[in-house]
Amino acid sequence: MIEIGADGRTWLLSGPTSSYALRVADDDALLHLHWGPRITLADAESLAAEPPPAPRPFEAPLDGREEYPVEGGPRFVRPALSLRTEQPHGTDQIRGTEWRYRDASVEGDLLEVRFRDEVVGLLLTLRYGMRGDVVERSAVLAHEGPADAPALEVLRADSATWTLPRRDRWRLSQLHGRWAAESRLTRSELTYGERVIGSRRGHTGHQHLPWVALDADGEATEERGEVYGCALAWSGSWRIAVHELPDGAVQITGGTGHDDAGQDLLAPGATLTTPVFAGLWSGGGFGGASRAWHAYQRAYVVPEADRDRPVLYNSWEATGFGISEEQQRALARRAAEVGVELFVVDDGWFGSRTSDRAGLGDWTPNPDRFPSGLKPLADDVHTLGMRFGIWVEPEMVNPDSELYRAHPDWVQHFPGRTRTEFRNQLILNLAREDVQAYLWERLDALLNSAPIDYVKWDFNRCFTDAGWPGEPYPQKLWNAHVRALYALLDRLRDAHPGVAFESCSGGGARVDLGIMARTDQVWTSDNTDPLDRLAIQHGFSQLHPARVMAAWVTDSPNTQLNDRVSSLRFRFVSAMAGVLGLGGDLTEWSGEELAEARTWVDLYKEIRPVVQRGDLYRLRAPEGVTGGPSAIQYVLGDDVVVLAWLPAQQYGEATAPVRLSGLDALASYECRETGTVHRGAVLLHHGLRTGLRGDLDATVIRLRRI
Ligand code: GLA
Repeated sequence: MIEIGADGRTWLLSGPTSSYALRVADDDALLHLHWGPRITLADAESLAAEPPPAPRPFEAPLDGREEYPVEGGPRFVRPALSLRTEQPHGTDQIRGTEWRYRDASVEGDLLEVRFRDEVVGLLLTLRYGMRGDVVERSAVLAHEGPADAPALEVLRADSATWTLPRRDRWRLSQLHGRWAAESRLTRSELTYGERVIGSRRGHTGHQHLPWVALDADGEATEERGEVYGCALAWSGSWRIAVHELPDGAVQITGGTGHDDAGQDLLAPGATLTTPVFAGLWSGGGFGGASRAWHAYQRAYVVPEADRDRPVLYNSWEATGFGISEEQQRALARRAAEVGVELFVVDDGWFGSRTSDRAGLGDWTPNPDRFPSGLKPLADDVHTLGMRFGIWVEPEMVNPDSELYRAHPDWVQHFPGRTRTEFRNQLILNLAREDVQAYLWERLDALLNSAPIDYVKWDFNRCFTDAGWPGEPYPQKLWNAHVRALYALLDRLRDAHPGVAFESCSGGGARVDLGIMARTDQVWTSDNTDPLDRLAIQHGFSQLHPARVMAAWVTDSPNTQLNDRVSSLRFRFVSAMAGVLGLGGDLTEWSGEELAEARTWVDLYKEIRPVVQRGDLYRLRAPEGVTGGPSAIQYVLGDDVVVLAWLPAQQYGEATAPVRLSGLDALASYECRETGTVHRGAVLLHHGLRTGLRGDLDATVIRLRRI
């Protein structure tokens, strides 16, 4: 809901529990008024009537109060917008922005406030969309100058600046990581200055998820207290800066690109739209904030999120590059026996891809391995009652490939410089139209060549030599690459509506709200150790829902990573917290193991709607190898599912009961496992016994309200 103040220059956006208010002042500055619990329009107007801070030498009264601080004028804060005119010979360069308020419009839950910089011909539209309690902010830059006006160079155009209310102290939560150790939650006190996270790697990166959360005075707990969160919908380089100003005001600015070295050139007539930077206030602690983020993504971001994801099998850990049609068929038969619903052939099926040294770019089946193409295997997989999927990495090329031999100029590179390789691969310049056309043609043909239902889309190295010989403004390739990727995915989805997509980047290095709008699930991490995964999944769940979080049960010992030995039970319960998959070498599993796997898969299918669509409560956070038990709970309607894990029992002590959350204290709940009836109030206050014992134990407990 959006309300407009009597002066026509104050707006109040409200979701079910929160409000956001802003106002254009008499001097046309766009001021922040409120972000927090629901308030009325009269409250917003009283905030608007408060006098500005008294002027002081060396301080700018606007700092810390503006919705979108631009470069130039009476400001010392980090600008969200930094522009300069291109400088044709003999003309003067103009830098910064000076706007006049033009107008505003409200359409449903979308507010647009428009400003014009007459000197350079810029029309700037600031957008605010209310989606539940999430405010989606973005900016649109349009060059409205005459055709012969100089172009505008966008040094930086952040999506939004968020302003927090005054509190004594703030605590910052972030999700950091690296390969095989993504999305680990860390919290620290904020102090004066700037905390900057981001990626200058061309993709979202393993190092940080584009998200921060802040709670005041370190007061929020899992289920109580105020939490502010911001998440950027962008899959390229990005930056989020959290700044605590000298007077204690806190602002969060975020957008595309890590540095301010220039991102785009706007010619007269051209328009640029930033990605969405979404913000959420929750009064329900970190858990309440996560549930609101999950609900938002299921309702507005993830395609067809009301449809549950199938149990998949992926062959990567079982077979690596050494794949054959017969061996995939053998795995598929085993997968079907244990109840798998989607069989995915990973790397190694195409071109001359028998190792990571060759083949990327040649998206046709390897004639030695699949002499009649993928169709015979896909048909067999379908006959076994499963859907069929494949792995691709379309943005990459191995120098040892037909594609590179034909088009060595299609990769990002600087003339005369080394073409840096990681994993023996180079990056195609997706900003080029010929590359876009090639990829569309190849992938469309591939999806037409066999009944393919699923595409795992990988991205296995970072940008380094991001040059574009012959292009007058090569820096634009960083953002143009991401837009081209989005356009390609959108086009493929349109043309092949039955095909689902998974985002992968060496595990979870392309997990963000931007990719999530065009993929059905994401590969959380290459780390499939079930214990490490609990921490990775704990972090992941701060922002993203179980519905997109792919997790596989692989072999024990975990030879890929750490040789840890764990029971099938522990591995399954760990992976059942998200979209369950299997990734072990099923041809090596005993009849007993396969039978046990079947019972776990059957159980997962029963709890799947609750896991994938329910509300998540994190009952106890994982504490690592030597820590105590951890547990999570999902609630959907009358159904409750508790998953609990114990790394190691100590001193023979029984594990403490876990207190449940989000239940009706007055209701009773029947345990589906034991038939015991529990009282809601008892479960909430005293807890549920899990019976976990020994090392690496785990359990699934289903309760139904009666
Ligand atoms: C990446 C992915 C893995 C697998 C390999 C294949 O590392 O994260 O799951 O697909 O590529 O080369």
